[in-house]
Amino acid sequence: MLLRENTPLLPYNTFGLEAQAAHFIEIQSVAELNQALQSGIRPVFILGGGSNILLTQDMPGLVVRNRIRGISVVRRFKNRVWVRVGGGEVWHDFVQWAVSQDFGGVENMSLIPGSVGAAPVQNIGAYGVELKDVFVNLEAVDLATGRARQFSRPACHFGYRDSFFKREGKGRYCITSVTFSLSTRQHRLNTSYGDIHKTLENMGVQHPTLAAISEAVIRIRSSKLPDPAVIGNCGSFFKNPETDRAVLERIQKTHPNAPHYPLPDGRVKIPAGWLIEQCGWKGKRVGNTGSYEKQALVLVNYGGATGQEVKALALAIIESVEKSFGVRLEAEVNMI
Ligand code: EPU
Repeated sequence: MLLRENTPLLPYNTFGLEAQAAHFIEIQSVAELNQALQSGIRPVFILGGGSNILLTQDMPGLVVRNRIRGISVVRRFKNRVWVRVGGGEVWHDFVQWAVSQDFGGVENMSLIPGSVGAAPVQNIGAYGVELKDVFVNLEAVDLATGRARQFSRPACHFGYRDSFFKREGKGRYCITSVTFSLSTRQHRLNTSYGDIHKTLENMGVQHPTLAAISEAVIRIRSSKLPDPAVIGNCGSFFKNPETDRAVLERIQKTHPNAPHYPLPDGRVKIPAGWLIEQCGWKGKRVGNTGSYEKQALVLVNYGGATGQEVKALALAIIESVEKSFGVRLEAEVNMI
């Protein structure tokens, strides 16, 4: 375990932004985390895959990169298994492992960037499935006391791209492992969302398997979303706003075909990508940053962008969408 000073964070954030950590450490175990906490250096910031943060300045204190690995089946039931996964595992590696074991439940979330420990923080989701649907519990270390604690599903207060760890628990815990419940037979396949069905058809698949669905999701994501290894980004920058029906009806007066999804409580979700595109931002470049040409919801770094530059663009987009539609977008990405 090596504590480094003035460490560039460029390799550790998928936006590819330059910022320095005053102190930086990679931990492979809970014991190493506790050792790092004993250094007394504060504040402590836990870094996962770096795929949901916008670094707008250098980081004081101690940045801890969670590299706690390990995937193991901890319980077997008739039709399910519980699998415990280290918080430092790469999310997609875990998905691929599950698919290779024919364990079902996470295949629709293939290729989501980031780490397993970061996944519950924003309750990641894609193509009709959310992390909370397969979640059993997690273990986290309280950064103030160094004590380990287990969180059940209700304790996590999961919502749409939201949890306890983005609110009251923000910055207070390091998630060291997450336990998932996956199906071992009679998988409940979810192929109705968006383009999955069509993509499976194009692949010539008549009887979808977990592997086929995973492959379809990978194809769809790769065709729409920029690869962070090639062009810096953090996936969706904003959440899809949830509004009252009256807001949608007002928008429909000028945009009768506005896409929207009904919510169980009678409100509606409007795709932020659509709102941003209507305001003329899609594919527009501002300095070294911009809104991605194939998916307006994704902000990108064309190379050499600063966090301040991306933040300024995000604020300009929020303002412009609010002015045109009376809807205030909220960032999904954590702006530091
Ligand atoms: N749309 C536009 N213009 C755009 C982008 C989208 O008009 O530039 C419209 C599309 O035509 C479609 C609707 O918006 O009618 C929805 O678009 P899409 O299916 O691409 O999904 P999204 O709502 O933009 C959400 C998630 C993604 C997830 C996809 C698929 C959020 C904030 N984003 O995007 O998650 O992969 O659905 O399930 O909920 C992420 O969180 O980082 C992420 C990529």
